[in-house]
Amino acid sequence: MEVVILPHAQDLARLAADAVVRLLRRQPQAVLGLATGSSPLGVYRELIRRHRAGEVTFARSRAFLLDEYVGLPADHPQRYRRVIADEFEDHVDFPVGAVQSPDGLADDIAAACAAYEGAISGAGGIDLQLLGIGTDGHIAFNEPGSSLSSRTRVKTLTRQTREDNARFFGSVDEVPRHVLTQGLGTIAAARHVVLLAAGEAKADAVRRMVEGPVSASCPASVLQFHPHATVLLDAAAAADLALAGYFRETFAAKPDWQEL
Ligand code: GLP
Repeated sequence: MEVVILPHAQDLARLAADAVVRLLRRQPQAVLGLATGSSPLGVYRELIRRHRAGEVTFARSRAFLLDEYVGLPADHPQRYRRVIADEFEDHVDFPVGAVQSPDGLADDIAAACAAYEGAISGAGGIDLQLLGIGTDGHIAFNEPGSSLSSRTRVKTLTRQTREDNARFFGSVDEVPRHVLTQGLGTIAAARHVVLLAAGEAKADAVRRMVEGPVSASCPASVLQFHPHATVLLDAAAAADLALAGYFRETFAAKPDWQEL
């Protein structure tokens, strides 16, 4: 796990965008994993800016979303498929149909989850997965207690996650209870994972992810097993890390030729 601590959230977005742009230049058909939530929004804004500047194209790439609410109508503004279109996809040049998400409106949820896993492996797996982290340590919608080797399936949100996400809805009662989410095993199979966290509300979850034991109680801690996980933190999110000084020194001394 490479932990990078930078003063401001916009610095994190720039570094993550650099990683995406470098990947697409080297491998135009790369498969991206997209996350919703506020954490990756700066990355999408930066990628849109670089796309408009002619620095990057998504014309040969594909993308898979991490998760989706069950039962939100197709035109609901908080449906993750809609959010990613509004925040990113519609502003760049993905081919039609190149961005996929789990089908939260499927009649047969189990079949939809299996089909989603099949689509990801059919595309050759995910090359770079963007991630945020929930205040309870979840990644995608893998809540505490999730199997560390789980695949795409239905999950029930915790009260805490529904309260955290109530800001996007009218009230907590409007936040769906059920979601479809890539599993921790699905996420762990991505070749490079880039997680962004900013703000003091994330500090405890970040400490448990980076320095706590690997445990289903903190689903993000599974990334300690990942051979190529990059954790980008602002100073507030890194505030509880015992190794913060070491992580800062390591990044300051990182050779120019070495990518994330
Ligand atoms: C949601 C999403 C996660 C995201 C988390 C944190 O629950 N399913 O993918 O990481 O929220 O969101 P934010 O980045 O807004 O703090």
